[in-house]
Amino acid sequence: MSSLLCMESNDVRMIGIHGIAGIGKTTLAKGIYNQIAHQFEGASFLSNVAEVKEHRGSLKLQRQLLADILGEKIARISNIDEGISLIKKTLCSRKVLIILDDVSALTQLEFLAGSRHWFGSGSRIIITSRNKHLLDVLEVDGLYEVQKLKSEEAFKLFSLYAFEADHDDGFWELSGRALNYCDGLPLAVKVVGGYLRNKTELEWEDELLKLTTVGQITVQYVLRLSYDRLEHTEKDLFLDIACFFRGKDSDSVGRILDSCNFSAIGMKVLKDCSFISILDNKIEMHGLMQQMEWEIIRRESPGQPGQRSRLWNPEDVHAVLTQKTEKILRIPGLAVLRMSNKAVNPPKDEGCRGRNEEFFEEGRK
Ligand SMILES: Nc1ncnc2c1ncn2[C@@H]1O[C@H](COP(=O)(O)OP(=O)(O)OP(=O)(O)O)[C@@H](O)[C@H]1O
Ligand SMILES: [Mg+2]
Repeated sequence: MSSLLCMESNDVRMIGIHGIAGIGKTTLAKGIYNQIAHQFEGASFLSNVAEVKEHRGSLKLQRQLLADILGEKIARISNIDEGISLIKKTLCSRKVLIILDDVSALTQLEFLAGSRHWFGSGSRIIITSRNKHLLDVLEVDGLYEVQKLKSEEAFKLFSLYAFEADHDDGFWELSGRALNYCDGLPLAVKVVGGYLRNKTELEWEDELLKLTTVGQITVQYVLRLSYDRLEHTEKDLFLDIACFFRGKDSDSVGRILDSCNFSAIGMKVLKDCSFISILDNKIEMHGLMQQMEWEIIRRESPGQPGQRSRLWNPEDVHAVLTQKTEKILRIPGLAVLRMSNKAVNPPKDEGCRGRNEEFFEEGRK
């Protein structure tokens, strides 16, 4: 990777990192960022670029990019073109490091890093993507494919999660079988390891037998399998976190969940299984997990959002609350989200109590 970065060169270089879902692109990009950011006049790590869909989200990313590099809050940017001009004007004479993590379309780059000419000499722009073709079209100066974990690395990582130690003398053969199914995918290794922790040898055998019923393993399959094995209340908690609390402050989420009689044990189970993690007091969850959870809820009622157990998409919330075409009384969780210039207010319906009120309170903050 260091040869691709070619730090001694004064050119502006764009480097692409690609690989399948869950292989470690973001992890690698973070590692590089932490190692070299101090060598630049400013640096910014923009996460989950692909998740930004709307105009407002694009403006937010432009503001974050400028704020990270200038080290100060940026006043309003009223439209994307204004943001582009500001980025060009501010960064063309600065040596910067910019990481654009998880880019899925060229349009996502047009408003953040439309050309190498936007940045001062010596700048490095690192783009991670699952889509190699996108990086080819961009004609990046260097391309790096993240490889699956080698068996010793996978074993070390697995042991950390399955045994809370570097290695365990027992379970050798069983560990090897578990790792076969993880196929060197770090996310799968962590989830399977976490899931098998504290289980007996017989339980391991049982779980591994279930894995053998499928031919090809994918990280999505491993995640789903581990999700299916959770207790009912843990599943509920996980779904709530995926829909409403990803990236939120863990203390305030804890307070909300306490008032809804969710036990702290559930949170611990989700953490132990690597479904969630707490970083800087924020609840984090891998994007693939969130997508899996969203799909579970969408399938409850594909055509009728009002019949689902949770609503988080602003369009769905707005449609259900304003058109009154469907009853909202059975929806235990609703997200209050501000859509363009209109806010969606909590329903006045007397029957809509309990967890909704807590979520609305959270949404107002
Ligand atoms: N080399 C590694 N050693 C230990 N853990 C790793 C390693 N690489 C990745 N992981 C872990 O695997 C999980 C997935 O990694 P990461 O999020 O970087 O994947 P990704 O390729 O960015 O996935 P996506 O395409 O979904 O964005 C994370 O929990 C991360 O901590
Ligand atoms: Mg990633």
